[in-house]
Amino acid sequence: MGEESDNREEDLHHGPMMQGEQDPGSNGYGTPPSLWRSLAEPVDGFDLDPCSGAEGTPIAPTTYTEEEDGLRQAWHGDVFVNPPWSSDGSASAKEQWLKKSRAEANRDAVDSIVVLLPSDTSAGWFHEHVLAADILCFYGPGRLSFVGGDQNPSFGILIPVFGDDAEAYRDVLDSHGTVIKGREVYQPTVQTGLVASTDQEDDDV
Ligand SMILES: C[S@@+](CC[C@H](N)C(=O)[O-])C[C@H]1O[C@@H](n2cnc3c(N)ncnc32)[C@H](O)[C@@H]1O
Repeated sequence: MGEESDNREEDLHHGPMMQGEQDPGSNGYGTPPSLWRSLAEPVDGFDLDPCSGAEGTPIAPTTYTEEEDGLRQAWHGDVFVNPPWSSDGSASAKEQWLKKSRAEANRDAVDSIVVLLPSDTSAGWFHEHVLAADILCFYGPGRLSFVGGDQNPSFGILIPVFGDDAEAYRDVLDSHGTVIKGREVYQPTVQTGLVASTDQEDDDV
């Protein structure tokens, strides 16, 4: 975590500076280069940034801008996704990009998808999609200042990773926060209920 703070001056000089307070509904904040470069190390560089435009240095050799619409393209390789965070009124952008990430992660052409999102356990997309990640990092302690954003953001960051190669990021994610293995969410089942009622019957005997 200290790495991002230590490199903040470098980070600020990589991207176009945008004015305004950083908020979790904004679309245009660039990822600090120190963070995406570090995340790219286990896969020797990302292959695709499907939501690009705000960064000063290209994050991957293939990029899609809003005009090209990364949501409508086929993805490939190791993918880095810092999506637009706003809602267009009909659907949350975060939800759209998470759905797309999960769908693309199932395609053979895709190895891994690293996503950056504000931490919000009150959101439906957190429960439906983030907790379905193969590996999940709760960034911190501390907060991440994006390029062009406020230097004191009021929210934390989550980094879910989807895809067959997600485990490759385990150590680098551990250097940025707390990592949990995904898909180990407790699911009450019919059996659980039966066992509980059987236990109760045994107690009654
Ligand atoms: C939060 S910024 C991230 C920029 C860069 N990938 C980074 O991590 O620094 C999100 C970017 O997605 C772009 N964008 C918005 N809608 C898009 C779409 N449908 N397809 C591709 N890019 C889009 C925005 O213009 C913005 O530059």
